[in-house]
Amino acid sequence: MVNPALERLPGSAFVRLRELLGPVVPQVETPISMSIGEPQLPPPALIADVVAAHAHLWNRYPPNEGTPELRAACARWLARRFGLPAGLVDPERHVLSATGSREALYLFVQAMTPPESGGRRAAVLMPNPYYQVYRAAAEMAGAEAVLVPATAATGYLPDFAALDPEILDRAAVAIFCSPSNPEGAQADLGRLTELVRLARRHGFVLACDECYSELYFGDAPPSALNAGLAAAAPGEDPFANVVVFHSLSKRSSAPGLRSGFVAGDAAALKAFLKLRSYACVQMPMPLAAASAALWDDDAHAAANRAHYARLVAAADRIFADYPGYLRPQGGFFLWLAVGDGEAFTRRVWQHCGVRIVPGRYLAADDPAAPHGNPGHAHVRIALVHDEATVTRALEAIRACLDHTDG
Ligand SMILES: Cc1ncc(COP(=O)(O)O)c(C=O)c1O
Repeated sequence: MVNPALERLPGSAFVRLRELLGPVVPQVETPISMSIGEPQLPPPALIADVVAAHAHLWNRYPPNEGTPELRAACARWLARRFGLPAGLVDPERHVLSATGSREALYLFVQAMTPPESGGRRAAVLMPNPYYQVYRAAAEMAGAEAVLVPATAATGYLPDFAALDPEILDRAAVAIFCSPSNPEGAQADLGRLTELVRLARRHGFVLACDECYSELYFGDAPPSALNAGLAAAAPGEDPFANVVVFHSLSKRSSAPGLRSGFVAGDAAALKAFLKLRSYACVQMPMPLAAASAALWDDDAHAAANRAHYARLVAAADRIFADYPGYLRPQGGFFLWLAVGDGEAFTRRVWQHCGVRIVPGRYLAADDPAAPHGNPGHAHVRIALVHDEATVTRALEAIRACLDHTDG
């Protein structure tokens, strides 16, 4: 017997992509993959050095909550990066380590979602298009996954406030992503503060996926923690109903390290830690030491950001006069409007050997959206290679666009 909720999940976008492109033979010798958001920059050398220096700790079971050193480094980084008052983030109450933000997002929803809310089915709100784990987390928790369009009309971010109050009242968690995958849209402090107020009014947790927060090309995106503070009256808990998810995968080009953390609402984190003590894979101590060193070092993150800024500048140049180009504010994806994303993906693979993802594979069907899916007209292009490779691939995509009927 398999859990029917699992059977109902749509399946990986990458499996669908393999099915789409399997029969198509590219007409170039060296294809380039721009489908998966896996940074191809070398990871910082300090990881290997710190892991080697802590090799004597491989024989220890790591703590579920993360080592005190790592939690303290995360709190220091939050204060530095988001300008939070010194001491506001207490590493012991407000920070838990995680083995990447993916598992943390998934498990957090399990911990926070009751089977019902006021006699009605609990809801988990999320953007559409969405990172695949959000929906799986909601469905596996037995909740209704409420997919809220993130389109040009809403600044490419979901407008949760526009939902029926009945849905907001039974929401357990609202997942928000800024900078967003796939659109690269960033919420400003005003928008985040409104969201925090909404969460507090309706009693749900705002779970803000901020794993791209170090990759930005204009104003640095604020954290939902800033908004929690902005929305709190003096003496009120600044982090009530707010939890944020961070990662070293993008910031430090280290997705293989599987290192992230969760911060915010102390009561939510206490419940989350209880679940984690049964269900999580703890972070090995040598990897926790390397993670702490990475959070303490901003220089390598700034160099990574400068690298992605050069790639976005190349995209700006190549698509300057293309109306379907949307400059990402953050992250490392282009969300390009091309007419029919699936047909275009096939054509780009065949003629240029560049592998990209049709936007509809990253979104749930929605009868109200044009062609029944808010991602239909788009493709997602991951800018994860060196500048010369990315430039070559984008120029090939641009040439393909110029020979497209729509
Ligand atoms: C929006 C978003 N959230 C979370 C993750 C998970 O990243 P990790 O588990 O490597 O921290 C990803 C990875 O691609 C992502 O794109």
